[in-house]
Amino acid sequence: VSDVIKVGLLGYGTVGCSLADLLSERKDALKEITGIDIELGAIAVRNKAKYAFAGVAENVEITNDAASLVANPNIDIVVELIGGLEPARSLILEAFKSGKPVVTGNKELLANFGSELFAAAEANSVDLLFEASTAGAIPILRPLRESLLGEDVRRIIGIVNGTTNYILTEMSENGVAYDDALTQAQELGFAEADPTADVEGYDSAAKAAIMASLAFGKDVTAKDVYCEGISKVSAFDMVLAKKLGYVIKLLAIAQKYENYDVGVRVYPALVPDTHPLAAVRGSYNAVFVEGAASSELMFYGKGAGGKPTASAVLGDLVDAARNLKSSTHRVVPSGEPADMRPIEALTSAFYIVLEAKDEPGVLSAIAGQFAHYGVSIKAIEQEPLNTYSKIDEDKLISRMVFITRRASERDFAKLVDELASFEAVEQIKNVIRVVE
Ligand code: HSE
Repeated sequence: VSDVIKVGLLGYGTVGCSLADLLSERKDALKEITGIDIELGAIAVRNKAKYAFAGVAENVEITNDAASLVANPNIDIVVELIGGLEPARSLILEAFKSGKPVVTGNKELLANFGSELFAAAEANSVDLLFEASTAGAIPILRPLRESLLGEDVRRIIGIVNGTTNYILTEMSENGVAYDDALTQAQELGFAEADPTADVEGYDSAAKAAIMASLAFGKDVTAKDVYCEGISKVSAFDMVLAKKLGYVIKLLAIAQKYENYDVGVRVYPALVPDTHPLAAVRGSYNAVFVEGAASSELMFYGKGAGGKPTASAVLGDLVDAARNLKSSTHRVVPSGEPADMRPIEALTSAFYIVLEAKDEPGVLSAIAGQFAHYGVSIKAIEQEPLNTYSKIDEDKLISRMVFITRRASERDFAKLVDELASFEAVEQIKNVIRVVE
């Protein structure tokens, strides 16, 4: 391998474009630090005409043919920033076959085909590095994979999607409507090409699977992750939560239990306003790691956007270039599937808002059902709404908000079903989990 490492870039979207800029800005400094010249050699895009390649050096080949870029003997390392499953997966496998390390930011691919890709990288003794796939600029995967290798990691709680954190922050602090906040996040370059993956929680679920696999040393895939998005959270819930001392965040939680089984889920949750994660605002992300010896660690930074994410790609690129020069590569995680604990078998505290008739015995009957299902009430707030029941027009309605202690997911779901069928309960407005 010569002192010049040529990079082949697949995809020239927000992150790809920032990477090209960053690489030229940092080229000289990197050469001084590492002794290696890392140069952009070629860029492959689907439609050349769609892009302005302003600032890209003239000797960089621009092609529509990604497969030929991967096969090009002048290219030493492939950076995959196309996203999605195919053709990204096949191109990465081809790169490995020709002995080329790959740096990728593709969480969807890793969360679905991680073990296949790790095995292929290992079989060809090359690197597969993917720090940019999770939480943008924040170094979280390398710490989980290396620094915390000796640690018994018990739980990870992360805010790992910038788009939804931006939306929730704008709604809660500035009263911005959901759609407007989403448009702003898209304009700022945080959102995925199709923002459904952000708002429905799939993007966070993929990142949760990747973090869980590294932290627990077992293969967790996207389909193992229970997932709820932020569409059920209303501005009203945010106001109520604030009044009760909480903020609402979309969380990715990965937990290891006594029997070494693992529960991984993504859902919006009320977080106490004193918790460090409550202070994570806008497009910032944070990952809170709890270990048996290390205790609590928090990793914080910009979780989305071109430059921050490109910074993580560049770090991996330098690492891969160094490894290539010294004919070494990083050890890959084990491919053994994790023993998954389903959501029904987990526990959580809950926030539930309902509207019920304001008449004698209603609160006591509702509280009786909580007792029946073994759910302890931690806090309750009742507010007369001064509106009449839609069913019994002469009956006034009250709003009741309950925060519970930790309860079984299965029992709580039964309680909600039971309450929904109560004659005195007009409507269950929302149920959101609470982090203690
Ligand atoms: N759409 C993602 C986010 C980008 O909003 O966090 C980073 O994966």
